[in-house]
Amino acid sequence: MRTIQLNNGVKMPQLGFGVYQIPLEETAEAVYQAIKAGYRLIDTASIYGNEKETGEGIKRAIDEGLTTREELFVTSKLFILQAPEEKAAETIEQSLNVMGLDYLDLYLIHQPYGDVYGAWRAMVAAQKAGKLRAIGISNFKSAKMIEFVGLNDVKPQINQIEVNPWNQRIEDQEWHEKYGVQIEAWAPFAEGHHDLFTNPVLAEIGEQYGKSVGQVVLRWLMQRGIVALAKSVRPERMAENINIFDFELSDADVEKISALDRKESAFFDHDAPQQVEWVMNRMLDTEN
Ligand SMILES: NC(=O)c1ccc[n+]([C@@H]2O[C@H](COP(=O)([O-])OP(=O)(O)OC[C@H]3O[C@@H](n4cnc5c(N)ncnc54)[C@H](OP(=O)(O)O)[C@@H]3O)[C@@H](O)[C@H]2O)c1
Repeated sequence: MRTIQLNNGVKMPQLGFGVYQIPLEETAEAVYQAIKAGYRLIDTASIYGNEKETGEGIKRAIDEGLTTREELFVTSKLFILQAPEEKAAETIEQSLNVMGLDYLDLYLIHQPYGDVYGAWRAMVAAQKAGKLRAIGISNFKSAKMIEFVGLNDVKPQINQIEVNPWNQRIEDQEWHEKYGVQIEAWAPFAEGHHDLFTNPVLAEIGEQYGKSVGQVVLRWLMQRGIVALAKSVRPERMAENINIFDFELSDADVEKISALDRKESAFFDHDAPQQVEWVMNRMLDTEN
């Protein structure tokens, strides 16, 4: 697996497996199958409610000798109400306990709302204590990322944001490169929105290389130097999505993909009042 070096020297796999929206009872098996298929980067979050099952899948894969803890790169994330400093310190411990791990390889502030500075202090302390190898943010727009870098002594290693052919984040990538913060793409397939998997441009590009639309999209992210998370509960798609290291998209094909950019989220804008309202309501539901 190709690796990317983060700004604190830690290396991470460039392609990973995400467990968002995998039904609880399928998560441990999906994580185990993903590791069996060759994935070493596994991405979960406290709000997904499946940290425990993710940990079970990891434990089974290690127990069966498919991999070692050192080979794996395990990520979780802190949600909004967990952000105040003391609460964040507790939440990190809780995630470690629930997942049955001594340390996490990456821990992220999941959303750009609430006491992100308090959360960051707790995360920096946990990183110094050896509990988190890398720390970062998620869903921060470039302006907020720059402010966050400017006002903290330790800068994030990662910003996990939506990147896919409909929302390519070309200028955002330039800003992140300037500040040394690695972009990690969530929803690389835009969860299939705007008929991604049957898009004629992407399909035609794939045909030249004998590759699927999903493989073209992930390969395009690899060539851009972006870390990508793909999710599938189906072992055949897990295998398909990781089989992208034996071809190279030509400059002409990359140009064709560039032309697909709509420069807007396939889901929502994190600054839109409706979105913030939805998150606040969901947060209160989660608390109850
Ligand atoms: N930080 C954040 O706020 C945030 C937000 C969203 C996601 N994430 C992370 O990013 C990961 C990936 O994003 P995502 O799960 O939202 O979306 P995604 O990876 O863009 O899309 C997943 C969907 O694509 C399908 N699929 C996967 N491979 C396929 C293939 N080769 N051909 C056809 N269909 C395929 C899957 O169906 P099947 O499962 O049925 O195969 C699933 O419905 C998440 O799991 C999560 O870890 C983070």
